[in-house]
Amino acid sequence: MKTIDPREHPVPFVHRTLLSGVAPRPIALVATVDGEGRHNLSPYSFFNAFGANPPVIVVSPAYRGKDGTAKHTFENIRDTGEFTVSAVSYSMVEQISLASSDYDRGVDEFEKAGFTKLTMDVVAAPGVAESPFVMECRLLQHVDTGGKPGSGNLMIAEVLRFHVRDSAFEGERIDPRRLDLVARMGYNWYCRASGDALFELPKPGHNGIGVDALPSHIRESSILTGNDLGKLAGVASLPDADAVLARWLQMSAELMPDSAGPDLFETEMRTGSAQRAVTALLRAWKYGDRDDAHTAAHLQRCVQTALASDDLELAWECALMADPARIAALRG
Ligand SMILES: Cc1cc2nc3c(=O)[nH]c(=O)nc-3n(C[C@H](O)[C@H](O)[C@H](O)COP(=O)(O)O)c2cc1C
Repeated sequence: MKTIDPREHPVPFVHRTLLSGVAPRPIALVATVDGEGRHNLSPYSFFNAFGANPPVIVVSPAYRGKDGTAKHTFENIRDTGEFTVSAVSYSMVEQISLASSDYDRGVDEFEKAGFTKLTMDVVAAPGVAESPFVMECRLLQHVDTGGKPGSGNLMIAEVLRFHVRDSAFEGERIDPRRLDLVARMGYNWYCRASGDALFELPKPGHNGIGVDALPSHIRESSILTGNDLGKLAGVASLPDADAVLARWLQMSAELMPDSAGPDLFETEMRTGSAQRAVTALLRAWKYGDRDDAHTAAHLQRCVQTALASDDLELAWECALMADPARIAALRG
């Protein structure tokens, strides 16, 4: 691993390094008003939420890297104590990129970027009508993290109102697929939260046994991935290996030879049917020339197929049996 001590490198390099690893970052499209009532709009990805009671967010307009001057967004929030944050959908990316240009003070980036103003309930700054999710925010605290070029200003604020587009809801819940938000990565990369990039992972409902409690042939597998181990280790207790062996003894005893041929296992794996793959594998082991070690290794692949279809019970059965000694015990 390459180790980087930020104190030994120029700020732009540290900036690029930090932003590559702290990613993807949500993007706040921040609207503010200056002392003369002029609107300002700029994107900020040093942004996140920090607690819900009260709802608190932080955005960080840094001091400009080239000359250490303050950004308009920072000055306006400091002077008025108010701003709005509009979330950024994929359909807005070119416009927010344009709004990030270093326009002179007093230039209204709503107009430059072609966004529509949305009047708010509480704060004077408008929201962005094209955004599906807008927050009205009031400054709670400002923390200056250095006062130098490239150092940050934490603008800690309370969310006073949320405005969420009706079409974002599926029933009572906001559905991420209906927001199509984008996030910022390192360098010029962005990422779009839609399609295959979105997946659900239920919260653990109990304390899992942990990877350290997995049988060693599973834990040290060269086939199973960290995600596979994490999913297996999430069970509340280790399944009963003797009961599994007894069930598989019966299953194996009932297997009759057929003419499907040795390729059937791979065919079933390709179609994602773990149970049928297991049966094909055991038949090849029993009537073909597959040895115990080969069968055990292939059972680890069945673990993955079963996990992919969320059949944790079968995954665990295959995992427990994926041990040449247990396969040998199947011979009775
Ligand atoms: C997607 C995106 C995210 C950005 N995030 C930040 C940020 O978190 N902090 C920052 O200081 N500048 C950030 N910038 C750069 C500012 O948007 C840019 O400096 C802008 O000109 C500031 O405008 P202002 O002076 O009107 O506030 C970002 C730019 C883009 C395109």
